[in-house]
Amino acid sequence: MTETISKGIDFKKIDEILQSYDYNKSYLIAMLQKVQEVYRYLPEDAMTYIGEHVEGLSPATVYGVATFYAQFSLEPKGKYEIRVCDGTACHVRGSMPVLNAIKNKLKLKEGQTTCENGLFSLEIVSCLGACGLAPVCMINDKVYPQMTSDAISVILDTLIKEEGAN
Ligand code: FES
Repeated sequence: MTETISKGIDFKKIDEILQSYDYNKSYLIAMLQKVQEVYRYLPEDAMTYIGEHVEGLSPATVYGVATFYAQFSLEPKGKYEIRVCDGTACHVRGSMPVLNAIKNKLKLKEGQTTCENGLFSLEIVSCLGACGLAPVCMINDKVYPQMTSDAISVILDTLIKEEGAN
């Protein structure tokens, strides 16, 4: 049975992943990790597909597992994944103004984590392991120490300009 690509989901690719784990439900977390590697998040259609094609699972079970673990994202991530630390050290040294500056710059509404054009996504984390450099942000793999709202605005403006976005 060959299924087509729907809403950008390549079910053949998902099948390859399931096959590499013998469609064994014990490997559900590993399967989800692989799917997330491909799409950078877990699309709903992919979770439903896994639930319907792996014996002993259901879409509800897959969804339940995916939402339980913080490592899984159910929303598409941006090309640039911004992580703002709001651990104790960063919080007392001003992570909130930095966070607010990012939200304003990206015009993120309450509860929205990825901006409209898909360029940036924002996540708040509890420690990035660089407390001596607080407040700290990361954009993809790069660490930005001692952030201020002005500094992060300049960084974002530069990336936006590089990408030719507004
Ligand atoms: S609390 Fe922010 S890096 Fe540790």
